[in-house]
Amino acid sequence: MTDHTIRPLKRVLVTGASGEIGSATTAYLVDKGITVTALSLAAPFPPGADRVVAGDATVPGDVAAALDDVDAVVHLAAIPHPRLGTPYNVYRTNVTATFNVLAQAGERGVRRAVIASSINALGIPMNRHGVMPAYFPLDEDLPVDLEDAYSLSKFSDEVTSTMAWRRWGIDVVAFRFPLVKAQPVLREVAKASEADPMRAVREGWSYLDTRDAARAIHLALTRPVSGSRVIGLSAADTLMIRPTAELLAEFAPGVPLRRPIVAFDSAIDTTRARELLGFRAEYSVHDRLDVIQLATETGDALNA
Ligand SMILES: NC(=O)c1ccc[n+]([C@@H]2O[C@H](COP(=O)([O-])OP(=O)(O)OC[C@H]3O[C@@H](n4cnc5c(N)ncnc54)[C@H](O)[C@@H]3O)[C@@H](O)[C@H]2O)c1
Repeated sequence: MTDHTIRPLKRVLVTGASGEIGSATTAYLVDKGITVTALSLAAPFPPGADRVVAGDATVPGDVAAALDDVDAVVHLAAIPHPRLGTPYNVYRTNVTATFNVLAQAGERGVRRAVIASSINALGIPMNRHGVMPAYFPLDEDLPVDLEDAYSLSKFSDEVTSTMAWRRWGIDVVAFRFPLVKAQPVLREVAKASEADPMRAVREGWSYLDTRDAARAIHLALTRPVSGSRVIGLSAADTLMIRPTAELLAEFAPGVPLRRPIVAFDSAIDTTRARELLGFRAEYSVHDRLDVIQLATETGDALNA
């Protein structure tokens, strides 16, 4: 029988530790007193990691070396966009790395893993057929429509997580990250989304500050969550400055709202993150004052 008791974490392996989310996560975990082994393809290695393994997450020997003395895993290493490789390489790298990391961790008796899935596991945001989601707010049960190798790799990673849990009893949280960036980049993307709302309508103009991503990962490592869980994440609001329901009515007409979306609230349903992890995003790309002023100007009542 699997023991889901959370003991204080001694050492966590972070794969993809040199990346956007990996370096922030490494810093956050170290700040919480957790010792980190970083697996990175190449320098620059993240500051704060106590051990660094230069290696490839798809290679069994590299992952075996990185798992020494580890009691939990954060697996982020991946080719993070379909255009950053051939479809074959994107799919092969992402699914092989996830299988390799979870299988080896499971075989060694590691009891907890967090992996990076993506909002693209739905297959909808980058779908070249222009399909719209079946409904808003987007949740973990939304029907998928997969037609690119990256989205497929992320959906496959979620299935791999369930297989690893069934076989080795390793509890896995697979986060469906939306766009995750630091504030300066988010501000640029917000401007671009404002100029062309259709650009990100299918992901509900969702985003997450990198600091919130790191905090969510820490919660997923330390809260008593059992089984294989897919969890959607988002900032509390959207990249846009207009009320969300109004934007959806204009840019996604005909897509039903399963429940009302109030004011500037996210179009992602983050109930599961709240209930299982106690997670609520803390950072917004918008200055609250701007939002209040805009609501006043447009005559909208701000429903706090
Ligand atoms: N940032 C986002 O907007 C976003 C959104 C959804 C999902 N994700 C997922 O989150 C994870 C982290 O994303 P990120 O934004 O930090 O990406 P990133 O590109 O900044 O970091 C990924 C890191 O993984 C490394 N890597 C790639 N292949 C590897 C391999 N075979 N072995 C070892 N390391 C390898 C890269 O060198 C890089 O340092 C990825 O799995 C990505 O698909 C990111």
